[in-house]
Amino acid sequence: MRQGSIKVSTLLLCVFFCCALNANATSFSVTSYGAKANPSADDTTAFLTTWKAACACSGNVELLIPQGTYYLGQTVFRGPCKFNTITVNLQGTLKASTDLSRFGKGDDWVEFSFFNGLTLTGGGIFDGQGSASWSKNECPTKKNCKVLPTSVKFVSLNNAVVNSVTSIDPKFFHFGVLQCKNFKASNINIKAPDESPNTDGIHIERSTTVSITDSIIGTGDDCISIGQGNTDVLISGIKCGPGHGISVGSLGRYPNEGNVKGLIVKDSSLTGTTNGVRIKTWENSPSYSYVDNMTFQNIKMTNVFNPIIIDQNYCPYYNCDRSAPSKVKISNIFFQGITGSSKSQAVMTVKCSKSAPCQNVIVENVNLQYTGGSNPIALCSSADVKFPGTKPGECTSA
Ligand SMILES: *[C@@H]1O[C@H](CO)[C@@H](O)[C@H](O)[C@H]1NC(C)=O
Repeated sequence: MRQGSIKVSTLLLCVFFCCALNANATSFSVTSYGAKANPSADDTTAFLTTWKAACACSGNVELLIPQGTYYLGQTVFRGPCKFNTITVNLQGTLKASTDLSRFGKGDDWVEFSFFNGLTLTGGGIFDGQGSASWSKNECPTKKNCKVLPTSVKFVSLNNAVVNSVTSIDPKFFHFGVLQCKNFKASNINIKAPDESPNTDGIHIERSTTVSITDSIIGTGDDCISIGQGNTDVLISGIKCGPGHGISVGSLGRYPNEGNVKGLIVKDSSLTGTTNGVRIKTWENSPSYSYVDNMTFQNIKMTNVFNPIIIDQNYCPYYNCDRSAPSKVKISNIFFQGITGSSKSQAVMTVKCSKSAPCQNVIVENVNLQYTGGSNPIALCSSADVKFPGTKPGECTSA
């Protein structure tokens, strides 16, 4: 009798909250919660209501965004949630509002944060509609600029998979991965014009065990940037260009940045980018940190301006504080099997900190041709560089 009444109330709860009782995923479609997919409608509230229902469910749930074009302001999918896993099945196109007043200071556009077990997939598109705001981006000239919204940010997620989605024309970065653990992205398509400011493809920060594989990235800034505090990052099968290349950093700009260690970048190609593989740190860093154990392997460069570059005098656009060398210590960096063409004669530049020289930089089988015809050269300063195989030229003082 008592057992029976528990069963009945459980059933009633499930009717009211649409929760999964069986192993199959319960699906929540945004169109069932009022999303209109219509240029004259704003679907932000409908998306958040759908999320609230899905988040309150246990088991494996799906949030479905069917084909169609949805107009959204800031949209935050935040946990904690009751589900075990969620698949966000993005089949449609999301378009960001072009009204910057709808985004507060430091706000992003679409955010997934503080829950576990995300799969984001479905072949859909995030369109940041950024072109209208690129001219309002003051970051290329002003140090304390207002940062524009990143299109899609992943914050404090464990076990996330992002697969088969496209991002075009963000206002700022395309994707941000922050404080995530075990994050896997593959088959990502990223597109923005060459000249769009600060449109990094994927920026990773304070995360552990991240992989970005088999993706095509052409944008206005770094294709992938590996910021402070990351451990165990794998980048493989990337086609990058246009853009500023695959970069570690910039580091040493803010106080108390974390170390960056355990990076593998392999089996990738860069075409027409300003840099190939790069480590960049600011001078006069407010605190000490280190970069350790990085391998750049089997990478094809085509018409890349700086194919291999470690730059500890990084100063992108405005006057930098050069009163002291960088306090970021760089060690155990391996460049192996890097081939192709360079648009500058210095196919490799290793310009390290005078107060913390680079240790154990191994350059092995690097074979890069200068498109200008004359012999390529390598520039080095404050660095312990070894060349066990084919070398890109003698190390001359940078
Ligand atoms: C270097 O980093 C890679 C990738 O994270 C890791 O597998 C390897 O164990 C690290 N090596 C050392 C000596 O820490």
